[in-house]
Amino acid sequence: MSSASSRLHRQLNQNSTPYQDPLGRLAWESLDANAWWLPQAAVSLAGVADFEAQPEDVRRRLSRLEFLGFLDAGLWLEGIFMERIARSLSSSGTTAERMYHLHELREEAGHSLMFLQLMEKSGLHLPRQGISRPWFVDLLGRRLPPRGALFWLSVVVGEEVPDRLNRAIRTLGAYSVDPLVRQMCTLHIIDEARHIAHARDALEHALASASAARRRLLTPLADALIRRFLDTFYLPAPAVYELAGLTPGRRWRELARRNPARRDFVRECVAPTLNYLRRLGLAVALPGA
Ligand SMILES: [Fe+2]
Ligand SMILES: [Fe+2]
Repeated sequence: MSSASSRLHRQLNQNSTPYQDPLGRLAWESLDANAWWLPQAAVSLAGVADFEAQPEDVRRRLSRLEFLGFLDAGLWLEGIFMERIARSLSSSGTTAERMYHLHELREEAGHSLMFLQLMEKSGLHLPRQGISRPWFVDLLGRRLPPRGALFWLSVVVGEEVPDRLNRAIRTLGAYSVDPLVRQMCTLHIIDEARHIAHARDALEHALASASAARRRLLTPLADALIRRFLDTFYLPAPAVYELAGLTPGRRWRELARRNPARRDFVRECVAPTLNYLRRLGLAVALPGA
């Protein structure tokens, strides 16, 4: 562990210390269960003529269901993070590092609690069946040895891909998205900025001694991870469309998958992560390019 990493852990610990439970910070009674929960431009079917011709309440309902689907994927991923963090607590490491792991665990638990609370308040229920998670990510996330470059690469991509959607909700939805939903995204972004700083530092540390050949070997895995995470967080399941009254769901999902406006939106969201990985010597490709 470098002294720069130790300094970073101490700094992150200091920034994480004034912890406040997000469940207690958010004014849940103010939630508008009929509002837009995603900015219109961040709905997967934005710009698709058949969708834009639907009544506004159908489009708003889809924004709420897509946001819930996004949170549901977040619960799955944060569950993997928490499992890994909990398992790392008994391993070696500096005191500052172990303290930071506990801060992260507490913060991820806080995020998952607010996701569940919003689901509960929404009055909407996503079906369990028909929503699958990529086995490849599940396996890597749960089984990879800690401290390896591939493990930290998975964490960086897994933290950054959903974080960019939270940021888009903040900026594009400044005047249109329900204020409680935006506040939720803000609280999440603030914590994730620290998690991402930590994961990027750990990835850089793990890659420091990696040869050019090893980086070339990691590149297709990085591409695969990015594609899986983008599908998981940016392409809703057919059941999500059906619950909004858009049937058959598979047809609408296909329209979303081929939607040029959606592709542009996703590319913009993932660009900072791709640029970062390229600076580290991983020649990752733009999905769909
Ligand atoms: Fe989180
Ligand atoms: Fe996180």
